[in-house]
Amino acid sequence: MNRAKRRSIAIAPSILSADFRDLRGQIRLAERGGADWLHLDVMDGHFVPNITFGPMVIAAVRSISRLPLDTHLMIEKPMKYVEDFREAGSTRCIVHVEACVHLHRTVERIRQSGMKAGVALNPATPASALGEILPFVDLVLVMTVNPGFGGQDFIASMLRKVREVAGMIAESRRKVILEVDGGVSDQNAAALVRAGATSLVAGHSIFSRRNVPGAIRGLRTSAMR
Ligand code: DX5
Ligand code: ZN
Repeated sequence: MNRAKRRSIAIAPSILSADFRDLRGQIRLAERGGADWLHLDVMDGHFVPNITFGPMVIAAVRSISRLPLDTHLMIEKPMKYVEDFREAGSTRCIVHVEACVHLHRTVERIRQSGMKAGVALNPATPASALGEILPFVDLVLVMTVNPGFGGQDFIASMLRKVREVAGMIAESRRKVILEVDGGVSDQNAAALVRAGATSLVAGHSIFSRRNVPGAIRGLRTSAMR
């Protein structure tokens, strides 16, 4: 496999499944395994039935790693907090289309703040929901589980949606990252890449393993198979 091809898939470990007693150590292991960026899951207990962390933890992660930080906002009214996440050091800010009445305004606010903008689709949201917003985003996140928790089972029928979104991106002729999030593992990584994913988020399949760097390298190898 040539190097260019290997680099074309990004692996984004989600720290949701990391051992928070030693976040610094866990992030070092992710870096050692060649993680391309870190995925940070912000949950508010309203948009999703779970609460995680906010800008404070992201600022702490920013202070100990140089990797790009993807902030995945699973919160209501995300526009209110865009500045906070930028100040915390997020590189990209991803909002759910289901959480934004004024999605275009929210995406513009994210870009004006200096971050890259991403939009996420829940499993029940069709690819067509991207139609009007695709020309304005840097990343599309296709959820392959219902958001809220790490370690859930991959919803295989989402492969079709990944293919459909990949087609929409190709047609747009813009460079948009197509990221997949939820239940990603050695078992489905190759199928996801073949369907058009360019970035894989993985929590459980990386941080539940004793050898975290090895799990990241293994996932990359599986993805390019
Ligand atoms: C789920 C989160 C995911 C989660 C993925 O709501 O958005 O980023 O951490 O975890 P795994 O890979 O364990 O499904
Ligand atoms: Zn996520």
